[in-house]
Amino acid sequence: MLKLENLEISFATNRGSLHAVKGVTLDIAAGESIGIVGESGSGKTVLSRASMGLLAPTATRTGTVTFDGKEISSLSRDEVRETWGTGMAMIFQDPMTALNPVRRVGSQIMEGLTVRLGMSKADARKRAIELLGRVRIPDPEQALKKFPGQLSGGMRQRVMIAIALACNPKLLFADEPTTALDVTVQAQILQLLSELRKELNMSMVLVTHDLGVVAGHTDKIAVMYAGEVVEYATTKDLFARMRMPYTEALMKSIPRLSTPSGSRLPVIEGRLPDPTKPEPGCLFASRCPYAQEKCRTQHPDLTTDSDGHQYRCFFPLGAAQ
Ligand SMILES: Nc1ncnc2c1ncn2[C@@H]1O[C@H](COP(=O)(O)OP(=O)(O)OP(=O)(O)O)[C@@H](O)[C@H]1O
Ligand code: SF4
Ligand SMILES: [Mg+2]
Repeated sequence: MLKLENLEISFATNRGSLHAVKGVTLDIAAGESIGIVGESGSGKTVLSRASMGLLAPTATRTGTVTFDGKEISSLSRDEVRETWGTGMAMIFQDPMTALNPVRRVGSQIMEGLTVRLGMSKADARKRAIELLGRVRIPDPEQALKKFPGQLSGGMRQRVMIAIALACNPKLLFADEPTTALDVTVQAQILQLLSELRKELNMSMVLVTHDLGVVAGHTDKIAVMYAGEVVEYATTKDLFARMRMPYTEALMKSIPRLSTPSGSRLPVIEGRLPDPTKPEPGCLFASRCPYAQEKCRTQHPDLTTDSDGHQYRCFFPLGAAQ
């Protein structure tokens, strides 16, 4: 369905070339869901946008993105647009900025249906009501008439999902779809996305900085650090036998319900390396509790175990040292 091969993305900036995505190879099969996890600035959004053919003009790309057998980079801007909606759709972190605040919910959902699918207004209205029901919005007919500001954050995100689903996409990108929401609503939206994915047999890419978010909702997880995929495995394998010190650090930073309120969450000490300055060694070396001399001078390649589990570390967790 979607194939990324050796994808490299850089931006021209006034501090020099900024290397945002480094040699990423990923494969997402039909109906499969994959989580992309990593700290802020690790390249998750750039990777998602590149996959949808939505890169900024200042970006340079090498490597390929193939969707449904077509190479995205070889398509014209118009052809790329055609794949949005019917092929791929995207939902973002903050539905308030993605929705038009002065247009009613109904007309925003119907737009894609009349413009992209050429439906009549009456049919589009029927389909909009059906879609709002699908995303479990109570009283869809009433909801059509509302402005985004009259809905709660969770309901707005449901509207965004309805818009994304309007043209039956085969692949849905959800970039931090729940970070702006409170914990209970987050859980409801993730549950809804999981159910819809199965009902509609869609593939899904769920982008988040929270390993806890992807745990129950994805088949595979790619952990990104400083533009690289540093660990890639099935969700089950990743949680059963995590190899990367970075993934372990992310895991420790997941807030737990049992954490007493007011207590400090463990954070990963230190910062991401400067993406405009190439480094010779492992990019996590300055923050890694297991770093050894070799880690500072040599760059670890991606190693693939016999079970397909991939990691980028000289001294993986659980290995005899
Ligand atoms: N248009 C751009 N021009 C220059 N640099 C950019 C551009 N877009 C992103 N970057 C840089 O690329 C790197 C990766 O950014 P990206 O937005 O993909 O991170 P992210 O993992 O999505 O982070 P977050 O969790 O905060 O959303 C960052 O260093 C960012 O500053
Ligand atoms: S290669 Fe070294 S520094 Fe990098 S994650 Fe592994 S142990 Fe840590
Ligand atoms: Mg992002």
